[in-house]
Amino acid sequence: MKVLVIGGGGREHALVSRLAAEVDPLDLWVTPGNPGTARLARTALAPLDRPDALVELADRERIELTIVGPELPLSVGVADVFARAGRLLVGPSQAAARLETSKAFAKAFMHRHGVPTARFRSCTSADQALATARSAELGYPLVLKADGLAAGKGVVIAGDRQEAEMAIHDAMIAKRFGASGASLVLEECLTGPEVSFFVICDGTRAVPIGTAQDHKRIFNDDRGPNTGGMGAFAPSPLVDAPLADLVMRRIVDPVLRGMAAEGCPYRGFLYVGLMLTATGPQVIEFNVRLGDPEAQVILSLIGEPLLPLLVGAARGNLPDAPVRLEPQVRVGVVIASRGYPESSESDQPITGVEAAEHLDGVSVFHAGTAHRAGQLVTAGGRVLTVVGHGRDYTTAIARAYAAVERISFDGMQYRRDIGKKAISA
Ligand code: AMP
Ligand code: GLY
Repeated sequence: MKVLVIGGGGREHALVSRLAAEVDPLDLWVTPGNPGTARLARTALAPLDRPDALVELADRERIELTIVGPELPLSVGVADVFARAGRLLVGPSQAAARLETSKAFAKAFMHRHGVPTARFRSCTSADQALATARSAELGYPLVLKADGLAAGKGVVIAGDRQEAEMAIHDAMIAKRFGASGASLVLEECLTGPEVSFFVICDGTRAVPIGTAQDHKRIFNDDRGPNTGGMGAFAPSPLVDAPLADLVMRRIVDPVLRGMAAEGCPYRGFLYVGLMLTATGPQVIEFNVRLGDPEAQVILSLIGEPLLPLLVGAARGNLPDAPVRLEPQVRVGVVIASRGYPESSESDQPITGVEAAEHLDGVSVFHAGTAHRAGQLVTAGGRVLTVVGHGRDYTTAIARAYAAVERISFDGMQYRRDIGKKAISA
């Protein structure tokens, strides 16, 4: 089967690595890919925000199944264009992708279908947002979220009224998030550990494929600004079988039924961001794709071939049986370049990647890397994800960090505490 993976980060390198074991190397394509995927798959170039160009690529190479990594192509309707062209694709339609692309849609949808989430108000004007913030009906701290995609930067937790008013001013009057902030969701602040719960869906059914915990802040002990994710481990020790059942019954199944009932059945990966509060799991956010770096730690724990699951999701007939997960763990450490997350430094020569990959129980996934004159160099904020494998978190952590220490480039930064939470849990 000819397969195309769309995207070029660590998540897509992990997808390509999994598929490389199941697909003939000549039939495995990636766009735009990165130096890591280039060793495993054929590379094509097509702009990710142009569904017409992506479907043209699929036509030209007679691609039989396309898997979308990032949210951008989904947000501009790549799934709709592929469906009209009669081409199989794993990922939701533009309307179904609103679960991620519009926080106001996601919150209202959860409210309509009784899915547990923080109390909220959607505000389409600064006056309305200011009135809500002043009324203190949602309490303080107050969480303010830009409605649209904001690359993880659109959330402010305001400690008091003054901070909330400033955040509203920034988003709605100074337009700091551009059009994404034209509408704001204000919601009550929840507390508890955060876990990511992943399912694959075929329009009517969802099957769990693993859990993970991300590390969103740049510095050790969850300090400093938010990033795309500085590391992750899988599975989350906080999600046992009864809790997973509860999440399926109270959250995932109602979402699948609700989306189908509203005329936009959900197909593809669904990432449910949960907060485990004292009163039970609550949805913090949905993402309509796998996470990055979560994909790098969950995909190799799927204990059966991935391709039949992907085809089933795309065709609307996922196998009935639960997906078997390996009784093992993974710990993934992201190595970023100097300046991340505010900026990033490119063209720094990277050494030691091969030495790291040769260690037992280690995988290295590329993201912001490039080749310049035969030398691997940095080319972005998050550069590599180094994953340690093991039967327990202690082993996987030791393996991941032994491999990280082999790698070197000027300005490299990484957290030293990835996985620590799994042990203390
Ligand atoms: P989001 O983009 O919705 O995932 O939000 C980014 C981060 O903000 C989350 O990972 C949480 O750490 C935090 N957050 C979002 N919503 C809430 C909430 N209602 N209560 C507490 N923290 C939140
Ligand atoms: N690591 C968080 C995300 O992929 O959204």
